[in-house]
Amino acid sequence: MLPGEVSSVRRSVPTEIVGPLERGLAVLRAVSLQAEGRTIATADLVRATGLARSTVDRVLATLSRCGFIRLNGRDTALAPALTALGNAYLSSSGLPDLLAPYADRLAEMFDESVSVAVPDGDGVRFVSQLARRRTMSPVFRVGDLLPAERCAPGALFAAEWDDTEWSAWQRRLAADPGCAGFPVLRRARPPGDPDAVGAIPDASRLRHRAAAVMAGGHAVDDQLVDAGLVAVAMPVRDVVGVLGPAGRTVAALSVVSHTSRHSARTLADHVVGELREAARQAQDAVAADGGHPVRRVDPAGPSAGPVAAAVSAAVSAAKVELGSGYLQSLARGLAVITAFGPSLRRPTLSELAQATGLPRATVRRALITFRQLGYVRADGNRFCLLPRVLELGYAPLTGLSLGTLVEPHLTRLVGQVHESASVSVLSGDDIRYVARVPTVRIMSVAIAVGTRFPAYATAMGRVLLAGLPDADRAAYLQRVRTEPLTRHTVTDVGRLGRALDEAARDGYALVREELEDGLQSIAVPVRDRAGRVVAAANVSTHAARVCAVTAREVLLPALRAVVAAIEADLYAVTAYSPPVLV
Ligand code: PHB
Repeated sequence: MLPGEVSSVRRSVPTEIVGPLERGLAVLRAVSLQAEGRTIATADLVRATGLARSTVDRVLATLSRCGFIRLNGRDTALAPALTALGNAYLSSSGLPDLLAPYADRLAEMFDESVSVAVPDGDGVRFVSQLARRRTMSPVFRVGDLLPAERCAPGALFAAEWDDTEWSAWQRRLAADPGCAGFPVLRRARPPGDPDAVGAIPDASRLRHRAAAVMAGGHAVDDQLVDAGLVAVAMPVRDVVGVLGPAGRTVAALSVVSHTSRHSARTLADHVVGELREAARQAQDAVAADGGHPVRRVDPAGPSAGPVAAAVSAAVSAAKVELGSGYLQSLARGLAVITAFGPSLRRPTLSELAQATGLPRATVRRALITFRQLGYVRADGNRFCLLPRVLELGYAPLTGLSLGTLVEPHLTRLVGQVHESASVSVLSGDDIRYVARVPTVRIMSVAIAVGTRFPAYATAMGRVLLAGLPDADRAAYLQRVRTEPLTRHTVTDVGRLGRALDEAARDGYALVREELEDGLQSIAVPVRDRAGRVVAAANVSTHAARVCAVTAREVLLPALRAVVAAIEADLYAVTAYSPPVLV
């Protein structure tokens, strides 16, 4: 969205902006800015947004009812379902999917991280991150925003700025010299850090760097954003004009390295030829794609229909439940965003009305509001989502650890069944707890996050082992040395193998007193988008108090329902980023 476009919309249609939607977005932005700290108190939201307390309360009640935030007393946290908004942008723009094969190939070829970034106002928004060199964790996530003057893609985009865009950038520099509007910079090394090589780069150099792009065709980042981080970026242009004006750079393909392997100059010398070729092919792919509906390669990928339907259902249910405290136009507006997707990439107003089941006038007012705020662009009678949608909590949510993601679900389960619940992952031949919510009852075993147990003697271990590829399971059974931890422990490897077959067939495992006398656990697998078992969830009880039948008939259905909700959250936050399995 060009700054000029924002003000022309504001001038021409001031009365049509939907107030509750605008205020709801302001609250979501404020929660997102705080999201690294996980929660924000309502009083701080009132301060950050300048809205009345009663307004903030109603916005929060509505967002919570739609499943986009979680309220815990006076504290608010982003909920994984909120990524439906960013996923709608990413899947409808098609850029991450289109550019993935070229980014993959570059990452493979150079064994370095590769990212795709798009212009967002005078900033640079990441839409794809392929991290290699796992020892150096990637600094930026999908959805993060960097100032143009602090990275390689920024210079590429600035090379095409007109005077209005340069002045907007200048105004931002003057208004926010400390880059407070870029929370991700707090994750990079602060300038006072002894390892930091240089001071904050002189922003005015952006003009020279943009000029260098015009001469050389690519941009270089020599530790502009973080000490040790070097990058080379190449533009991908939209020659047809599907994503904006024809010929503009719509994305930057970057190879990112570290000064321990490359200087900025040697990196450029090393990668620029292949990077230029990849960008040229990516450009052809963007042109051939033309913004037409696509089927994503991943069949479990986000599809607009069910999300929009789920949001619409929540919208109607909430209206009944919350009465006048419910901001219908906020919920409906957000449902309009979730209607965009792979099969509705550049919809018309009528198509959006049909997909959401909302009146045309409602959809129209929501679109006007989104347009003014820079979330939507109009192109003739068609609309498309803009990368700014990702500022609504996307990056912090994709960085959620599995433990943090599952915790509210386990808490709900424990409140229901009044027994302890946990989630574990396989770590070598052990299970390792990533989350545990105990009941108030004192158990004989105190299990903390990080605790390990041998997989063979636990229900979570059995479902995790049962989910391994055949060859890995066979190799495990070959090498495992079982010990009788109690007199019930299955130590015979043949019997253990049969127990794994049963767990695979039944979709759960029940283990009584094999790890410790008196302890019983029932567990089910947690699967990722591709159907692979990535974790296990359990309910553990005293064996004497809860018989096997009760475990199967009462605990198992409750556990399965909670795991279905965990998986829905996991799919939402991993649609365009790998899961964080800790
Ligand atoms: C990144 O992908 O993390 C990245 C890309 C280009 C930069 C800096 C960081 O200039």
